[in-house]
Amino acid sequence: MQAMTPPSRRAPAARAAPEFDLDQHPHTLDECRRCPLWHDATQGVPGAGPAHAPIMLVGEQPGDSEDRAGEPFVGPAGRLLDDALREAGVARGAVFVTNAVKHFKWEPRGKRRMHKTPAQREVDACRYWLDRELTAVAPAVIVALGSTALKALLEDSRARLQDHLGKRTRLDGRTVLATWHPSYALRAPDSDTRDRAYADIVRTLAHAKRIAHAPSPSEPD
Ligand code: URA
Repeated sequence: MQAMTPPSRRAPAARAAPEFDLDQHPHTLDECRRCPLWHDATQGVPGAGPAHAPIMLVGEQPGDSEDRAGEPFVGPAGRLLDDALREAGVARGAVFVTNAVKHFKWEPRGKRRMHKTPAQREVDACRYWLDRELTAVAPAVIVALGSTALKALLEDSRARLQDHLGKRTRLDGRTVLATWHPSYALRAPDSDTRDRAYADIVRTLAHAKRIAHAPSPSEPD
């Protein structure tokens, strides 16, 4: 008889792909079947932070560490983000941190689970959860960390991060700022690029703090 590989050890591609179900309106992330990413993830990773934080940070999707821990930005990118927040004078405990996509998308490489960029359809399907967080937290300022977050927030798959760096965009009465994803500041090939990306993240977080604490968030700073 042929030896069977336990389902949890099989590469994602070897399993039958689950479908999208955009008619589903789940109450919890664990129930979510709106896109197929739940299938290969350990768990959904919801946003974390104060219920009415004035600043919301939006990343791309949980990484390997976040998938295991069930919390956003707790791995290497999260440590860089913590440094940048400290340098910008923003307490991590005062911001709501979340992701555009709530399940880890990965492909196997040897024994490692390598990050795979979510498809636009998956980002769109997960906007359901981001909408709920935006409504519940109602932040004055949202910082898009990277291009996936920016596209998700603006609901514009053609939005380009470069066009939004250093600029503020008004969206449904809120301000959106955009900067590089922390992983880019960690992994860009040369140190100059990494330093510039990190500096822009710090600058943008400090900008978000100024706007959040301005008498009216719509006033120019
Ligand atoms: N990268 C993200 O975009 N989000 C996380 O939570 C961790 C890494």
